[in-house]
Amino acid sequence: MSVTTLVETRVPFLDLKAQYVSIREEADDAVLAVLESGHFVGGHWVEKFEHEFAQYVGAKYALGVGSGTAALELALQAAGIRAGDEVIVPANSFFATAEAVSNVGAKPVFADVNPMTYHLEPSTVEPHITAKTRAIIPVHLYGRAADLTGIERLAEAHNLLLIEDACQAHGVGRRGVRIGGAGRLTCFSFYPGKNLGAYGDGGAITCNDQQYAQKIRILRDHGSPAKYQHEVIGTNSRLDAVQAAVLSVKLRYLDNWNSLRVRHAEVLAHALGGPGLHPPSLPPEGEHNFHLFVVRARKRDSLRNFLKEQGIETGIHYPVPLHLTPAYEKLGYPGRGSMPVTEALADEILSLPMCPELTKEQLDYLVSAVREFTGSNGSHGSHSQYAASAS
Ligand SMILES: Cc1ncc(COP(=O)(O)O)c(C=O)c1O
Repeated sequence: MSVTTLVETRVPFLDLKAQYVSIREEADDAVLAVLESGHFVGGHWVEKFEHEFAQYVGAKYALGVGSGTAALELALQAAGIRAGDEVIVPANSFFATAEAVSNVGAKPVFADVNPMTYHLEPSTVEPHITAKTRAIIPVHLYGRAADLTGIERLAEAHNLLLIEDACQAHGVGRRGVRIGGAGRLTCFSFYPGKNLGAYGDGGAITCNDQQYAQKIRILRDHGSPAKYQHEVIGTNSRLDAVQAAVLSVKLRYLDNWNSLRVRHAEVLAHALGGPGLHPPSLPPEGEHNFHLFVVRARKRDSLRNFLKEQGIETGIHYPVPLHLTPAYEKLGYPGRGSMPVTEALADEILSLPMCPELTKEQLDYLVSAVREFTGSNGSHGSHSQYAASAS
């Protein structure tokens, strides 16, 4: 019999239970109201949340769907992307960004990312544009708003569509425009661990185009504008009423939760660093929601193990670049070396615990554990300064 040492979790990666407890009464009331209404799919709660979310991001329409993956698939389908088309996606993203492209029959084409922002940038995208390219999907990865200026120019020059993957980017924006508010098809996930997360799966597409909105409404509901009128082949991908009601409650807290994450991120970014450990840069206010706090560590795996031994949970987002996943072997990418930035990141990135509910004690403990490992006092200041500012 093997003997396993159980380490008590002192800093969870994410504390969804603590978040629930903080809004228990409102969340329970919202769920009960749906149960008592007897309307579980579509209807009042979904329409209410769609309206609120559209207003929040500054879009004309928000369409609730079954997940972020479904949001991407339905957006691609509504835009007419299909077999024979190519869509450029970052090699550094969650699998679903590419999977959605494959699921509509098109081919995902991977592009490397910028070493500072970890996002697509024009110089990594342009070489991949061919006569078959129809769209680009920039991802606002880790919750940082991507600078799309150059990508927009490229898209315009080559007549390509931009569909934004904002599955990690609730509530952030650039230059006064929230992500989702620029008018184009933008896809959100409400997976429970997201900054705006449901109590199950959920997603939404925002846009300003009435025709796209109508197409998505039909596609998400078996291709039918009205019961048993099936005009096209669609799917069943609807946001359910319980999730919508919970999301309406949580939307009221989103800005505050995002601010808390940013505050924690500032504390960590100032306290950590030194040779072999790079905390993420802090972009201007409002441009990052710190869905994930991703550091780059030369000895990533040892650091991760060390933190685990201290009861600190971490994650890797993402450990395998998309062009190297077994699922995409058939695309024939020449293995390591073709996307050097993404490949280097996959070996070095580590997501430290991050959620609004992190306590000062947990932040203190996390900082001292990382410092113990690196033997460094951080890049920007002393621990006592940090402790004072975090109180
Ligand atoms: C960048 C990105 N795209 C797409 C998705 C897919 O969202 P969902 O899990 O709701 O299908 C996620 C969710 O993890 C994501 O992080």
